Amino acid sequence: MPPRPDLPPQPLPEDKELVLKVVPMPADVNANGDIFGGWVMAQVDLAGSVLPQRISHTRMVTVAVNEFIFKQPVRVGDILSFYASVEHVGRTSIAVDVEVYAERFSDQGKYVKVTEARLTYVAIDATGRPQALPDTPQTQAWREKLLARQRPA
Ligand SMILES: CC(C)(COP(=O)(O)OP(=O)(O)OC[C@H]1O[C@@H](n2cnc3c(N)ncnc32)[C@H](O)[C@@H]1OP(=O)(O)O)[C@@H](O)C(=O)NCCC(=O)NCCS
Repeated sequence: MPPRPDLPPQPLPEDKELVLKVVPMPADVNANGDIFGGWVMAQVDLAGSVLPQRISHTRMVTVAVNEFIFKQPVRVGDILSFYASVEHVGRTSIAVDVEVYAERFSDQGKYVKVTEARLTYVAIDATGRPQALPDTPQTQAWREKLLARQRPA
């Protein structure tokens, strides 16, 4: 039987930043012949860490995968694009939304959303304990930007 058709292609998000592109290989497949979900989760974790690292300039660890949705299968040879946005900057933590879009090997130029997730990262000190994010103009700017987004228009 032919595989279930994709959901319609979507425009790429304008409110998120492209943080990673990667092409899954045959070694990454599961028993169904699609890409193994754990491989996708690892890439999302890496992609999600980019913006928090840029804000914190300190070591960060993933404390939680708050939500993870596999919307459509990922296939060998897809060109995957990972888009991320910072959604919360706390005292020690930063929450990030990640969306993953696939350009199918045989249908390039169209993007189907395959995964969306929210992850939270925590800044840690040399002993592995949570530490406050640095109070830099960049951190302050993120806090103000997120507050402004919450205010009614
Ligand atoms: C991450 C870690 C240092 C946090 O230590 P902790 O003592 O539990 O931290 P706290 O309870 O003080 O929470 C720290 C921050 O994380 C946030 N946090 C904790 N659990 C959370 C969850 N489930 N979802 C979202 N945020 C969470 C807290 O709200 C807090 O944020 P804030 O300071 O911005 O308000 C510790 O749990 C740890 O080392 N975990 C292992 C990390 C790891 O190995 N990750 C890789 C796994 S593959």
